[in-house]
Amino acid sequence: MPATVVVGLQWGDEGKGKTTDLLGESVSMVVRYQGGDNAGHTVVLGDETFKLHLVPSGILHPHITPVIGSGVVVNPAVLLDEMAALEARGVSTARLRVSAQAHLIMPYHVALDSAMEARLAEGGIGTTHRGIGPAYADRAWRTGLRVEDLLDPDGLRLRLERLLPGKNAILAAYGAEPFELEPLHAAAVRHGEALRPFVADTFWLVQDALARGEHVLLEGAQGTLLDLDHGTYPYVTSSNPVAGGACTGGGIGPLQVDEVLGIMKAYTTRVGSGPFPTELDDGIGRSMRERGREFGATTGRPRRCGWFDAVPLRYAVAVNSATSIMLNKIDILSGLDEVLVCVAYEVDGERIASWPVAADALARVRPVYRRFPGWHEELADVRRTEELPGNARRYVDALEEMAGVPISIISVGPERTQTIERRARPRRDVAGRVA
Ligand code: IMP
Repeated sequence: MPATVVVGLQWGDEGKGKTTDLLGESVSMVVRYQGGDNAGHTVVLGDETFKLHLVPSGILHPHITPVIGSGVVVNPAVLLDEMAALEARGVSTARLRVSAQAHLIMPYHVALDSAMEARLAEGGIGTTHRGIGPAYADRAWRTGLRVEDLLDPDGLRLRLERLLPGKNAILAAYGAEPFELEPLHAAAVRHGEALRPFVADTFWLVQDALARGEHVLLEGAQGTLLDLDHGTYPYVTSSNPVAGGACTGGGIGPLQVDEVLGIMKAYTTRVGSGPFPTELDDGIGRSMRERGREFGATTGRPRRCGWFDAVPLRYAVAVNSATSIMLNKIDILSGLDEVLVCVAYEVDGERIASWPVAADALARVRPVYRRFPGWHEELADVRRTEELPGNARRYVDALEEMAGVPISIISVGPERTQTIERRARPRRDVAGRVA
């Protein structure tokens, strides 16, 4: 029952879309386990670029069942738009399955996300304004609506009658407009009719696939440092992108996971507010943004860019039990005389090598850098480790050493083919032995 979890080791946007698409050849099912349409997965296939927010990237492989697990928050209007856009480009969405238990992002969640951010102004999280936080908050408050509610118009009306006055009171407190029940209900029922054929008990879909011995891939959105528990709180998203989230949100037991592939870029980016010790405000940061096309796939916001930070790397490898790493976008660093990696922090005159999870503490650290000689060759056509320029190879080896687990795949461009399969990925059996 092989299951692979694909998880971001940084602040999201590590290139997980390419990874799941790349591994797609060998899997029968791709399960998205958390987040919502705050995510944006970009997949390049030949001349076509697909930007996916909710639909798992596996949709582009006809043999894969793409599944939206119960840990995802689903905006039904966004999902239906995305499905229609895929169909318009000749990609069938007939195989897509959506968990009946996934929570809904309702229009009042989107309005509340924006209203709360506006109220916080400077102190805001810099959310994607997609209603993610308010939808997960409703789930925890036990006042959320789930995909299954869309299929029961009468029950949905009752629930909305009970819920809406409370939602409108909160919106009013933030100075936002109230919502009326009838149009909300009518739209939700319409969405339910359209989604009905796709709604399933995805827990058993996943379990049955594993029982048949099929290879299931669980795909996380965002990244470890944006995790609600393990990230730079409060500058985080409202779910658990870490590999543990694959169990709760994907519907799989911890011992059913036999591989965790951590994804990281050769440098660091962050979108939204919050501390970022290696951030570069200079020409190098701008060049990373331009060369790496570092603009948010969902909001179009320019991503903050900086050197690779090895301090949270060990932490991310540990919290996810990463068995190996895919290193993306090393091609973007070509042309630099020197490449820096942060190997420790200085705080109040003291050097620390461990990751201070508290955002306030992280905001006060100064990065301590190790300098590597750069390389000027373009890497887009490299397909084997030995073809990498010596300095690039030394950089990869150093990152691998710092991570403590092998870098099994290196990506040198957005296309599926622009990939170096470095060595066989180690697999674990359920007893933790590396096969
Ligand atoms: P939210 O998930 O929209 O609530 O946003 C919370 C924080 O997570 C903000 O800093 C966002 O910029 C960040 N965030 C959410 N989704 C992504 C993503 O897919 N990539 C990078 N950052 C993200």
